[in-house]
Amino acid sequence: MKHLLKLMDVTTEEIEEILNLADQLKYELKHGIEHPYLKGKTLGMIFAKASTRTRVSFETGMYQLGGYPMYLSANDMQIGRGEPIQDTARVLSRYLDGIMIRTFEQQQVEDLAKYGTIPVINALTDFAHPCQVLADLMTIRESKGALEGLKACYIGDGNNMMHSLIVGCLKMGMSISVACPKGYQPDQQVLAFASQYKGFEMTDFPEKAAKDADVLFTDVWASMGQEEETAIRMKAFKGYQINKDLMALAKPDAMVQHCLPAHRGEEITGDVFEDHAHEIFEEAENRLHAQKAVLVTLMK
Ligand code: CP
Ligand code: NVA
Repeated sequence: MKHLLKLMDVTTEEIEEILNLADQLKYELKHGIEHPYLKGKTLGMIFAKASTRTRVSFETGMYQLGGYPMYLSANDMQIGRGEPIQDTARVLSRYLDGIMIRTFEQQQVEDLAKYGTIPVINALTDFAHPCQVLADLMTIRESKGALEGLKACYIGDGNNMMHSLIVGCLKMGMSISVACPKGYQPDQQVLAFASQYKGFEMTDFPEKAAKDADVLFTDVWASMGQEEETAIRMKAFKGYQINKDLMALAKPDAMVQHCLPAHRGEEITGDVFEDHAHEIFEEAENRLHAQKAVLVTLMK
């Protein structure tokens, strides 16, 4: 594995190795065992969108690994003024040991990897959020013991989160049922991938997707960059919500995961969120451990 651009590029074995290493790093951190695997290495962290979890977990993670995290706001870089990504990639490759990028177009991340000579990590594009889903898989495995055979369900927008979850869950032997309104379905590329698996289902009905689920996911109705569509989306997604009625259809011990930030009263009700807050914040914590595993895998 040279980069983490999207989960479609990563094998089941590689995901498993990352999850195992993430568990080990979490254990070591909790037991005060230092692990400076990236001593002397620098990670550039380019952000063209807002972030709380991703920035803080990558920055802290890099520090805990003995390396140096460099925050780079895309607006303050020359890419913000039109310098080509091909040139940015070749320049940054001469200073840094790895690049993490959060941006809009997936193509930009792919180009950074293509033209540069150092590992590139996708920290969210409009198309994918692989780091989040590695943390999600880690959290589910911690709680349920194993991933294979579990049923996931995702209620809401066919966005970056849904894309990465479909790929991640199917690769790990889980089934996944997604419920989304017409016009907000996942990308064709993801549907083509999913069509190779028996465990994929897409429906208009949240109730169908949630039936007997072991883990339920949702995400915001309007993602970063879609702020102007908020009013239209509020109407389109009405009913695509994780609430008590929907939870009653899932397995009695079903987990709830949310990448955060959450909008209570929209994609999830406040009561369900609070009932599952321990799982949701464990998921947020696991961003740190899963990403450290990615950093070590790519940059050691
Ligand atoms: N879940 C997630 O990526 O959070 P941030 O946008 O705060 O980084
Ligand atoms: N789909 C959301 C995820 C945020 C972590 C967004 O792209 O804004």
